[in-house]
Amino acid sequence: MDGNYKHLFSPITIKGVEFKNRLEMAPTLAFMATPDGMATQDMIEYYRSFSRGGVAIVTVGDSAVNFAYGKNHEAQLNLGTDEVITSLNKVLEGITRYGATASIELNHGGNHTFVRGSSAYSASALPSGNEEYAAAMEGRLPIEVKEMTQDQISDVIQDYAKAAQRCMIAGFKMIMIHGAHGHLLSQFLSPLTNKRRDRWGGSLENRARFPIAVIDAIRQKCGPGLIIEYRTSLDEKDPNGLKTDDVIEFIKMIEDRIDIVQVSAGLLSVPELMHHIIQPYHLPHMYNVHYAELLKKNVKLPVTTVGSIMNLDNAEKILSEGHADFIAMARPFIADPEIIRKTALGKQEKIRPCIRCNWCTGPGFAFPVRCAVNPIAGRGVEYPTEEAISPARKKKKIVVVGGGPAGMQAALTAGKRGHDVILYEMKDHLGGMLEYACKLPFKKDMKAFLEWLIARTEESGATIKYNTEVTADTINQEKPDGLIIAVGAIPLIPNLPGIDRPHVHWAGDVDSGNVEVGKEVVVVGAGLMGVETALSLSLQGKKVSIMEMMGPDAVLMDSTWFNRNYLRLWMAEQEIELMTNIKMEAITDKGIRAIDRNFNWKDFPADTIVLAMGMEARKDKVNELRRLIPATEVSVIGDCYQPRNLFSAVHDGFNSVVEI
Ligand SMILES: Cc1cc2nc3c(=O)[nH]c(=O)nc-3n(C[C@H](O)[C@H](O)[C@H](O)COP(=O)(O)O)c2cc1C
Ligand code: SF4
Repeated sequence: MDGNYKHLFSPITIKGVEFKNRLEMAPTLAFMATPDGMATQDMIEYYRSFSRGGVAIVTVGDSAVNFAYGKNHEAQLNLGTDEVITSLNKVLEGITRYGATASIELNHGGNHTFVRGSSAYSASALPSGNEEYAAAMEGRLPIEVKEMTQDQISDVIQDYAKAAQRCMIAGFKMIMIHGAHGHLLSQFLSPLTNKRRDRWGGSLENRARFPIAVIDAIRQKCGPGLIIEYRTSLDEKDPNGLKTDDVIEFIKMIEDRIDIVQVSAGLLSVPELMHHIIQPYHLPHMYNVHYAELLKKNVKLPVTTVGSIMNLDNAEKILSEGHADFIAMARPFIADPEIIRKTALGKQEKIRPCIRCNWCTGPGFAFPVRCAVNPIAGRGVEYPTEEAISPARKKKKIVVVGGGPAGMQAALTAGKRGHDVILYEMKDHLGGMLEYACKLPFKKDMKAFLEWLIARTEESGATIKYNTEVTADTINQEKPDGLIIAVGAIPLIPNLPGIDRPHVHWAGDVDSGNVEVGKEVVVVGAGLMGVETALSLSLQGKKVSIMEMMGPDAVLMDSTWFNRNYLRLWMAEQEIELMTNIKMEAITDKGIRAIDRNFNWKDFPADTIVLAMGMEARKDKVNELRRLIPATEVSVIGDCYQPRNLFSAVHDGFNSVVEI
C-alpha cells in the first residue's frame, strides 16, 4: 500500500517533531466548548477520532485569543484565560495518544465577531459583509465596529502571545495562526478592510505590520521551538481584497518567522465568497490546489493545501506532482475518520464518502458538528467508533420496510449489531428518493454516497426482498420483534386546474431525463430541488424562471448555509429569474396563471412547467402497518415520518435501531 501512496506516507521532521505522514486534519470548530470556553468530553472525543484514524496532525479549530472581543463563534475555546490550560491538555492527550501531533488555531474575529450587545473592533470601522447580511435577515442594525486604537492593537498582540503560551504549557508543540478568511489578521492585511492612514495601514508593508507583530510576540513568548503554521487566503476573491501577488509578498516577509504555510482562499465575512473556503458539491475537487502550487514556487517553506481534497488518491497526486508538502482535509475525515486505515488495508470501497452537503457547518456555524452521512460524527461520547457500537444483547428479528437511505441505514446498523434483518423494497433496486437526488451532473458526490450505501447494505447480511409491496399480511406472516417503517414520501402535486396537462412534469422526472422539456420553463418551488433543477435546465441553454409562493427568505431554506449562498450566486450568474410571493393557481396551454400577494392575477408563458413543490409523507402506508405489532417496537423514520433531507434519513435510520 505504501508504494501506492509513498509521498503521502513519507515522514517529515520539523523542529525535532516527526510527522508520520503528510495528512493534517484541517482546523474545524467542534462547537462543543462550554459557554465559558472550556473543552468538553464531546470535544475531546471529536478531535481524538481523527488521530485514531491515522492523521499526522490534528488541528483544533478556531479558538479565541480574546473572549470578550475576539470570539467569533458559539461554543469556542477561550484561550484568553489560564483556566483553559487543563482542558486544553485533555484535548491534547486525546490527539497525541495515537502518535499525531496536536495543533490549535489561534484567532480573533475582529469585525467578524459574534459578540452581541457591544462593539466589535477591527483595523477600520467597517462591518463584515456577513454581519450586515445577518443583521438584515434579523431586522436589526449590524454590530457597531470601531477602529482599534494603538493601545488596543498592543493588547491584542499580547493576547495572541499569551494564548500561544497557554497552548504550549498545555503541551502543544504546534499552533496555527489564522491569517485567512477575513478574520482580524487578514482584516489588517487586506486593503478591503484596512483603510487606516497610520503605520498600521496604507502600504502592504504597513498592513503587514500587525500580523508580523503577532508572530514576533508569539515567538518572543514561546521561543523558536514552537512549530507555527500560518493559514492564509492566497486570494480573497473580492475585487478590492487581497490578491495572490500581495499575499505571496507577505508570506515572503514572514517566511523566516514561521514553519509551514497553509493555503486556502476566500472570505468567511462575505456570503458570496464563502464557497472558496468550504466548497459545496457543485464545485470541482482539489479546488484550491493551484494556489498552493503557485505559492510553493515562490517560497522555501513547506506548503499545505486544503479544500475539497476528497480522498487519498487526490492527496498522493498533489504531493507527487510537487504542488504541496502537506494535505489538509476536514470534511472527508468527518464523514469517515478511518479513511487512512481503510486505505492502508486496501479497503477503499468501505470509505464513507463526504458529499460536501455542509450540514456539518450547521445553521451558520453554531451547533455541534454532526454529519449527514456519518451518524456518529460528533457523538463520540456515545459512540467513540463504529466498532464500539455495542452488539445487541438479544438477537431480534427486525423488518425494515423501504430501501431508501433511512431504511438502508437502519438495516445496516441493525445488521452490524447482530440482529436478523429483512429489508423490503417495492422496486427492483435500493435507493428510494436519493436515486433522484443524484441524477444531476453536479451531484456526483451524492451519487458516490448512494452507491456506497447500497453496497454496504447489500453486504450487511440483511435479507433483501425486492419488488415487494409490504401489506399487513406480510407483517403478520413475518411476526417481527421490531418494525422499521421507512416507506418514504411522494411528490406533492397540487390539485389545480390544468395540472394533468402534458407539459407539466415533476422535477425528479426532469432531472432523470425521462421527459421532454421545452425552451421556456417555469419551475414551481424554490427549495433545493427546484433551484437545482432550474440550474441544470439553464445550463442546457433553456430560459428558466422560478416561481415561489413564499417570500425571498424561504428560497433554498432546505439547503445549508454555505451551499445556499453559493446556489444564490450561481442562479444570478445563470440569470435565472426568481419570482417570490406569487402562487400558481392554474396551468394553461401557454403557461401558468398565478396570483400575487396583492391579489393581482398574472400569466407567465412557459412551454414546460416543472413542479418542485415538496414531498408528501406516505401516511396511508404508515397507518396500514404501524399497529400490527406493539407500538413501542415500531419506528416510523425518514420522509414517511416527515419529508426532510438526507441528514434526517440517515440519522433516523441509525437512531431507530442503535439501542434495540
Ligand atoms: C465543520 C467545519 C468547521 C470548520 N471550522 C474551521 C475553523 O475553525 N477554522 C478554519 O480556519 N477553518 C474551518 N473550517 C474550514 C476547514 O478547515 C477547511 O478549510 C474546509 O472545510 C475545506 O476543506 P475540506 O474540503 O477538506 O473540508 C471548517 C470546516 C468545517 C466543515
Ligand atoms: S455533513 Fe456533509 S459536508 Fe459535512 S462531512 Fe458530512 S457529508 Fe461531508
